Amino acid sequence: MARIATWPAAPDAAAPRHRRALCIESFRKVRDETERRASSLSAEDQIVQSMADASPAKWHRAHVTWFFEQFLLVPHLPGYEIFDERFPFLFNSYYVAAGPRHARPQRGLVTRPNAGDVAGYRAHVDAAVERLIETVPDDAADAVFAILEIGLNHEQQHQELLLTDILHAFAQNPTDPAYDPDYQMPGSAAGPRGFVPVPSGVHAIGHAGEGFCFDNETPRHDVLINEVRIARHLVSNAEWLEFVEAGGYRTPSLWLSDGWTMAQTEGWQAPGYWREVDGAWHTMTLGGLKPIDPNAPVLHVSYYEAEAFARFAGKHLPSEAEWEVAARNGMLADAFAVAWQWARSAYLPYPGYRAAEGALGEYNGKFMVSQMVLRGSSLATPAGHERVTYRNFFYPPARWQFSGVRLAEFA
Ligand SMILES: [Fe+2]
Repeated sequence: MARIATWPAAPDAAAPRHRRALCIESFRKVRDETERRASSLSAEDQIVQSMADASPAKWHRAHVTWFFEQFLLVPHLPGYEIFDERFPFLFNSYYVAAGPRHARPQRGLVTRPNAGDVAGYRAHVDAAVERLIETVPDDAADAVFAILEIGLNHEQQHQELLLTDILHAFAQNPTDPAYDPDYQMPGSAAGPRGFVPVPSGVHAIGHAGEGFCFDNETPRHDVLINEVRIARHLVSNAEWLEFVEAGGYRTPSLWLSDGWTMAQTEGWQAPGYWREVDGAWHTMTLGGLKPIDPNAPVLHVSYYEAEAFARFAGKHLPSEAEWEVAARNGMLADAFAVAWQWARSAYLPYPGYRAAEGALGEYNGKFMVSQMVLRGSSLATPAGHERVTYRNFFYPPARWQFSGVRLAEFA
């Protein structure tokens, strides 16, 4: 994972002070964005855990802080004192090598430490990280800054989860609270719709060269793209409404077996946050409950629903390789910043993939089974976090993320 060991690149190798200043600037920017996203949430909002898969906003704020404490400060800042000896148990997520941890489904029961205590934890760790950036010896700086960079990218991932999780909580509230009453959902990109041919043949996908990536984006390797056409645009709410009105959710022949079982068990009749109000479809958004915008991309659909919709439309989902080649060639509208796009690709290691040694090796590699890949990024992804090689992944029934659909068709 720590493949880019010279971040941020010093504009002048003789100016190590400048490099440290850039690190502090990046660190503050990311940490501030987390607090900005949490700032409109009350202490009560920050406690709630609406399902086992979601986490309280307060937990997200503390967990990303623990990550810096555990992986950066404890091993690398001489004399660092842990803020509170009880916190590693509470705020370790899934790092078995880092010690025991609280049960995930019970995170919402932890009313103390309260939100103010977490703010104190953040301030304590912020000060220590900045002290480390300023004082780390030059010969240890590459290793320290590489972990810092992972920590910042990790925190950005949780910035998105903070929004997906609070939206799920608000969607359970009969008063339909708005995270941000002024929030405007993104519409679809302009331009002609339809399908465009992906260049066939052997292409390289995956990350190489400069810039940060997670380990699961490597190694870069060759793939064979057969003849396929990919949709320029994302599937819209209007198109999804056709699926709903044609009985798509009541037609087992459209569904994978596991998907049909899930749809029946959960009573799915429409995307995650759709509900009928006075005969019109509405959806829960970060701006509260809103009428469906027919032209906007559909959101909050599971892999199972995406796959059933593709069959209904006589199409397929693109593979992650097809998606990446098309995106690299500038063929996709709304590739980023609207909806994660399900790929018909299992989340598996790329050929030759090796997880990092130690606890940070648990970051991605141990989840490479039973999940599906999503490509692109969403409206909740922090600016600058997206990449053409980025591999998001969730279990097929998941639909509380900002997940949408792009179709493909074979010639
Ligand atoms: Fe995490």
